[in-house]
Amino acid sequence: MDQARCNILVSTDPSAVVTAIEVLSNDGIVALPTETVYGLGASIASPRAIGRVYSVKGRPPGHPLIVHIADPDDLERYGRDLTPQALQCAQHFWPGPLTLLVRRTDRVPDVAVGGSSVVGIRLPANDFTRAVIRGLGDAVVAPSANLFGHVSPTTAMHVCDDLGRSVDLIIDDGPCLIGVESTIIDCSQDRPLLLRSGGIDVEDIESVLRTAVATDLGPSRAPGMLTVHYQPHAQVILARDIHDAAEIDQEVRSSGRSSVIMRHHDRLPLYASTLYAQMRQADRDHCDVIIAVLPGERGLGRAISDRLSRAAAR
Ligand code: TXA
Ligand code: MG
Repeated sequence: MDQARCNILVSTDPSAVVTAIEVLSNDGIVALPTETVYGLGASIASPRAIGRVYSVKGRPPGHPLIVHIADPDDLERYGRDLTPQALQCAQHFWPGPLTLLVRRTDRVPDVAVGGSSVVGIRLPANDFTRAVIRGLGDAVVAPSANLFGHVSPTTAMHVCDDLGRSVDLIIDDGPCLIGVESTIIDCSQDRPLLLRSGGIDVEDIESVLRTAVATDLGPSRAPGMLTVHYQPHAQVILARDIHDAAEIDQEVRSSGRSSVIMRHHDRLPLYASTLYAQMRQADRDHCDVIIAVLPGERGLGRAISDRLSRAAAR
C-alpha cells in the first residue's frame, strides 16, 4: 500500500476507531469499510464535511447520500412516519446490505439529501464502522468512496487510487465481503418499490413482506442511478454465456486489441465480491476490453447484471 499517496490506518490498529471518530468530529471525511463497498463518510452534523464529500467525489449536489446508523433504534432518529414494511425490513435484514427510503426527520439536513423529503437509511454489517458511528453519537452519511461514475471501491487501495489525499483518513479493513452495493427499497409509501438491486435478494424481501415489490429503476426515483455508471476505463462487452464470451474474445484479439474474460461468472457470491476488483485490475493491466458473462436475473445475479449493464453502456 502506498502510504505516501494516502493516509491509511488498518482497522486492527488499537487507535483506529478513536482516530476515525476524531477526524469525523472535526469536519473531516473518512473512508470506512462496509460489507458492500467502502463508503466516504462524513458526520451528518457537519455541513462542511458533507460538502467535501460531494466535491471530492465530483458528485452533483442533487444526489442524496445514504445515512448510516449503528443500531436499529437509530432508525427513528432520522426517519419518521415509518410504514410497517419499513419496520419489518429493518427488523429482518439489519445489519445487512439493505437501504430503506423513509420520510426524514429534522436531524437530516437538506444538504445530505439534496433537499428531498425522504432519506435512505442503512445499518451496515461491519463492526468497525458501527463502533465509529456509535462513538460519534450521530449518523455517518456516506456514498461509495469512488470518483463519480467510476467503479465502486471494495478495498482501501481502490479508495486510495481514486481519491488519494483528498480523503483525511482511509480505514483498511480488507476486501468487502459482498462487493456490490446495498439493495434500495422505497418504503416511504404504502407500496414498497425497488430502486436499486443489491446485496439482499428482492425475492427474500418479498417473502418477508408477503407482497410483490414493484420495480422502478428510472433516474427520476434515485437520482444517482444513471444508465452510465460503475464504469472502468476499458470497454465492457456483455456475453450471453462462456462460449459467447470466448467468441467475442477471439474477435477482439484478432482486431489487435487486448481483452480479458471476467472470472467466476458461475459462482454468484464470488462474481459479486470480485466484480469491481476485476474491472479495476483490467484497467491497471491496460486492457482494452473486458468481456463479462451476464448471470441470470435471480438472487445476486440481478445486482451483478445491473452493474454490468451500466458499465457496458456508452
Ligand atoms: O452499499 C451501499 O449502499 C454503499 C455503502 C457505502 O453503504 N453506498 C452507496 O451509496 O452505494 P451511493 O451514494 O454511491 O449510492 C446510493 C444511491 C444513489 O444512487 C442515490 O441517488 C440513491 O442511492 N439514494 C440515496 N438516498 C436517496 C434518497 N433519499 N432518494 C432517492 N435516492 C436516494
Ligand atoms: Mg456509488
